[in-house]
Amino acid sequence: MPETYPATMGKLESLIDDHREKQDNPTDPSRLQLMVPSIGKFHTPLPLQEAWLRYDAKYCVSKRRMLPPSFNEVRHTLNLAQVMAIADRLEMICFDGDQTLYSDGGNFTNMPLAATIIMILKHGIKVVLITAAGYGFDGAAYKVRVKGLLEAFLKDELPAEVMSRFFVMGGECHYLMRCTGTGELERVPDEEWQNPALNGPKPRHWPEEECKQVLDVAEASFRASIADLKLRARLIRKPRGVGVIPGGEASVKAMPTGHGSVKFKTEALDEVVLRCQQSLRESRDPPIALPWCVFNGGRDAWVDVGNKCIGVEAMQAFLGVLPQRSLHVGDQFLRTGNDVAAREKSPCIWIINPNETLKVLEIFIGLKGLAKDGPAPVPGLAAPSSPPRSGVAEPPREGSMNPLGMSTEGGSGAKQFNCYTGLSE
Ligand code: IMP
Ligand code: MG
Repeated sequence: MPETYPATMGKLESLIDDHREKQDNPTDPSRLQLMVPSIGKFHTPLPLQEAWLRYDAKYCVSKRRMLPPSFNEVRHTLNLAQVMAIADRLEMICFDGDQTLYSDGGNFTNMPLAATIIMILKHGIKVVLITAAGYGFDGAAYKVRVKGLLEAFLKDELPAEVMSRFFVMGGECHYLMRCTGTGELERVPDEEWQNPALNGPKPRHWPEEECKQVLDVAEASFRASIADLKLRARLIRKPRGVGVIPGGEASVKAMPTGHGSVKFKTEALDEVVLRCQQSLRESRDPPIALPWCVFNGGRDAWVDVGNKCIGVEAMQAFLGVLPQRSLHVGDQFLRTGNDVAAREKSPCIWIINPNETLKVLEIFIGLKGLAKDGPAPVPGLAAPSSPPRSGVAEPPREGSMNPLGMSTEGGSGAKQFNCYTGLSE
């Protein structure tokens, strides 16, 4: 019934308020924590009731007689509440890359999204692309992925000072670059962002031997999974990551009865990831001390030394931003995803494709009254960009979960750039 929903949302809101009072005291668990032991940290209050009323006013969810609110609608409501909570205090916004700013393996092409990012930068907010893709400090390789955005900066004749608020953090937390006034990505010296005086994590100073241990354990697990699950796969090892990608034609010969030469099944990737997570957790010889991240990237599986929690925290320390004044927007919040790590240190928004990212930013801009022309739009969310589904609480990741499959935005066919290695082919 229409009146039941706001009351439920109000109840959740007060449970979150209660949790926020107790979340830093492990000896006094909140009611929410007793009900949901795995509940994480809430960095801001969430005006869920108000968000629901706005969402429902637009989409008439409560008027439906046949269909309850879906997983995606609940996700949208939480996103809206988070944007409403942070709009007045936001100082730094981090975006995941693949599937958040551009499609998986693709490059930035969404010009309306570029326009909203420019508006945010002009407003003094720092913008960080924080991606697992690790191309070392090769600014040109990252630039291939975000060329469309950097060109939009130049076309808009953004002052160098505004452009300098745009950063790229590659390899989850290892390689920091900053945009120059000419639209290049230039390495930020370690002495700046990894300065001992800063109260943040120092991934650049992690011992090489310990990084190697993480990657050795992960690589052994990946190799065992490839053999056991008969994956037609190729393994890529980098200084801070190991990946399993579709093996192409050569892998068909090597694994005649296997599968995945062009595209892996989601289930296979999830299995590879969960096995690897277990191997790292249970590694005793030696035990793993460094943070790591093993995730299903939609088309591939990766382990990285470090994770987005470290990346976000290092940026908060470098730019002097408190967790409750920062926001991370990403697409991977399942336990086999790599954005979920950011939640520990930052409020988060869970989107499923770049158009939803755009929608979230439009809502933010509307709430702040930043729109250039005309009155601010009334906040609400656009129709879900995924095809309609049953109300079952399914994880909403596009690509692996979406019956339409992955978007081809960005035109991977004609691309001469290897999105895994960052090299031209
Ligand atoms: P994100 O969504 O921007 O974090 O990027 C994740 C994707 O980056 C993965 O699914 C891979 O396709 C790609 N990638 C390229 N290099 C790396 C790496 O070194 N580690 C992890 N992912 C990588
Ligand atoms: Mg992503």
